[in-house]
Amino acid sequence: MSGADRRGATAVVVGGSTGIGRGVADAWASSGIETHVFSRSRPTGPGGEHLVWHQLDLRDAEAAKEALRRGIPSRVDLVCYSAVYFTARREPFTRTTESDWLDQFAVNVHGLSWTLRAALPALRAATPGMFLHISSEVVYNAGPHRSGYAATKAAASSLIGSVSQEIDPAEVTFVQALPAGMVDSPGIRARRSADFDYSGYMAPAAFAPLAVELARTRGVPYAGRALVVHEDTSWASVDDALPVSQSRSLANSHQ
Ligand SMILES: NC(=O)c1ccc[n+]([C@@H]2O[C@H](COP(=O)([O-])OP(=O)(O)OC[C@H]3O[C@@H](n4cnc5c(N)ncnc54)[C@H](OP(=O)(O)O)[C@@H]3O)[C@@H](O)[C@H]2O)c1
Repeated sequence: MSGADRRGATAVVVGGSTGIGRGVADAWASSGIETHVFSRSRPTGPGGEHLVWHQLDLRDAEAAKEALRRGIPSRVDLVCYSAVYFTARREPFTRTTESDWLDQFAVNVHGLSWTLRAALPALRAATPGMFLHISSEVVYNAGPHRSGYAATKAAASSLIGSVSQEIDPAEVTFVQALPAGMVDSPGIRARRSADFDYSGYMAPAAFAPLAVELARTRGVPYAGRALVVHEDTSWASVDDALPVSQSRSLANSHQ
């Protein structure tokens, strides 16, 4: 698909108001792709005016399914799922509240399944459509003090792995992408102290070159792969090198 062909294409980003999803949404919109964002809050700041926003709260199952059914166009070339619920702090499983546990499953897993159900017919209509799931190193490095995050991200990754094998890649390609390290996003900032130093963190825009490449190729060269995105915006398959664990001791679990 050439740059000119991308005009007229349509994309959906669930969890595209901030963070990595916003990086993907801005990259697609900047390429001339009509980009729909689903989230609780309206995308603000530079570029927000180019995104078509749909309100969605994945913690309300019936309303969320209805919002996705109504809001996803009948033909979609690209879908990205980046919505996530991070708990307020890292803590041992025995201290995790029932509410946090259920919200992580709602946003990190159920929302993905509802998005797949709502979007797959629209992606098949694009032939091939491309589904991008934003994954995490925790899928490969289960670690202490984030059992709910690890369990839900592993479940989500496994869901993508299974569904991708049920669908002909000529109809829909599935790609997963994850950052090599921590990414400076509002979800992460909410659990850091005001004076935290983010200089070692990646920017969400590091995902832009991969997003453009996936739009250009519809993910065909990367079908079924999980790609680690680096700070310099390059990417490599997890099959080449597993991502580094971001788990820490309980003493530093607030970070
Ligand atoms: N940041 C990192 O260091 C890091 C590392 C590894 C993997 N990841 C992965 O990257 C992805 C994005 O993370 P991020 O750090 O970029 O997150 P983020 O900035 O917190 O963005 C999360 C997105 O999810 C949406 N969202 C949250 N709760 C929602 C709800 N109840 N209903 C609908 N939408 C909801 C947010 O929008 P609203 O608040 O407007 O609803 C936002 O658009 C996740 O899959 C995460 O696992 C992140």
